[in-house]
Amino acid sequence: MGSILIKTEIPGPKSREIAKKRERFVASPMGSLAPFYIKEGHGAVVEDVDGNRFLDFTGGWGCLVVGHTPEPVVNAIKDQAEKFIHTDFTAVPYEPFAELAKMISERAPGDFEKQVAFFNSGAEAVENAVKIAKGFTKRKAIVVFEYAFHGRTLLTMTMTHRPMPYKYVYGPFASEVYRLPFPNPHTNKMKIGDFERVLKDNVYPEDVAAVIIEPIQGEGGFNVPPEGFLEEIREVTKKYGILFVADEVQSGYGRTGKLFAIQNWNVVPDLISLGKSIAAGLPLSAVVGKKEYFDALPGSSIGSTFGGNPVACRAGIEVLKIIDKEKLLDRAIKYGEIIDKRFKEMQKKHSVIGETRGIGAMRAIEFVKDRKTWEPDSATAKAVIQEAMKNGVILAGAGIHGNVIRLLIPLVMSEAELNEGLDVLDRAIATVTG
Ligand SMILES: Cc1ncc(COP(=O)(O)O)c(C=O)c1O
Repeated sequence: MGSILIKTEIPGPKSREIAKKRERFVASPMGSLAPFYIKEGHGAVVEDVDGNRFLDFTGGWGCLVVGHTPEPVVNAIKDQAEKFIHTDFTAVPYEPFAELAKMISERAPGDFEKQVAFFNSGAEAVENAVKIAKGFTKRKAIVVFEYAFHGRTLLTMTMTHRPMPYKYVYGPFASEVYRLPFPNPHTNKMKIGDFERVLKDNVYPEDVAAVIIEPIQGEGGFNVPPEGFLEEIREVTKKYGILFVADEVQSGYGRTGKLFAIQNWNVVPDLISLGKSIAAGLPLSAVVGKKEYFDALPGSSIGSTFGGNPVACRAGIEVLKIIDKEKLLDRAIKYGEIIDKRFKEMQKKHSVIGETRGIGAMRAIEFVKDRKTWEPDSATAKAVIQEAMKNGVILAGAGIHGNVIRLLIPLVMSEAELNEGLDVLDRAIATVTG
């Protein structure tokens, strides 16, 4: 027997009742992927208020590498909550903050002394990485890429590419943000060997504090840079004294088979922004990087009231222990191979799949109307997500045109659950495409 169990229509009667309250009182732009309301989640399985069980292939938009409610995390949260919940580390400090900073520093790439600052959201981590780079270099400009997603604050919204829905009419945007093409084989606007020239065509390099790049783009559609591109950025940034910031809010913490996605390349970044999975779903984000960058900043010039909250730090410590103990990096590679094979089989069967791509378990399929013109097919991607949902699998879309389905699976799921979910996806594509 599989993990999925669908007993009612989706959403069921209890979910529909809760939806009435939501429709009246919850801010309407805050939509949800799932039409049902959760009662409990454990591992990769979510049970809704009507008793239906779903496989969660989205993990709270990529926050649940260790799955829902892992026991050591729950125990640490309970224990910490009974002792103290908040002090603000800058008022009364506590050890879990320092311990998690140590654990992340020791694991981050780079043979130099590192330090860690904690914040609450991915956007805050990215924004603070930029502040640190500006504070150290005393430069004003930053460089980002096409299809990037870095968050929803003024600066990170500016850094994000996709106008609708993320930027809409919310300008004027932050200044001194330069966007360069991301090397995409279908647009061919940036090729290996072009980066330095394109950079200089756009901005005076000695005015640039940082180049910020997602080692694998998340919301942008799981775009993997071509071999040599990240190395080239590293070389050019070194040449001009620019900091290389890897935004690993989505790609980090094991999904690609390495704890840090950038470790899939021979590149050591200056700063890394982390978020999402680092505290098993509690709001925690971080910037890790060379100690000398932090040393260059005035005291209190970075920070936040709740950043590095003790309960979240305790959860974060357990997450790293689980990744080590359960060998989740190896699991990501193994599951990545299974997914890759299954996606390639689906691509052969369904002409609507233009491409399958990714590294480790961070994999996606892209839907196109025609494999020659590469015209995006977002309608099919959306219909497949809905069909899979009705049949018990929660899947996330992605891509600047919304024509990508990406897997952000809890790595603790069983192989049987992985295959069960992929079967549902395969059947959903067949149903939607007739
Ligand atoms: C690469 C990347 N950076 C930053 C963010 C923003 O994170 P948050 O939504 O926690 O602010 C995201 C969120 O999806 C992301 O994928």
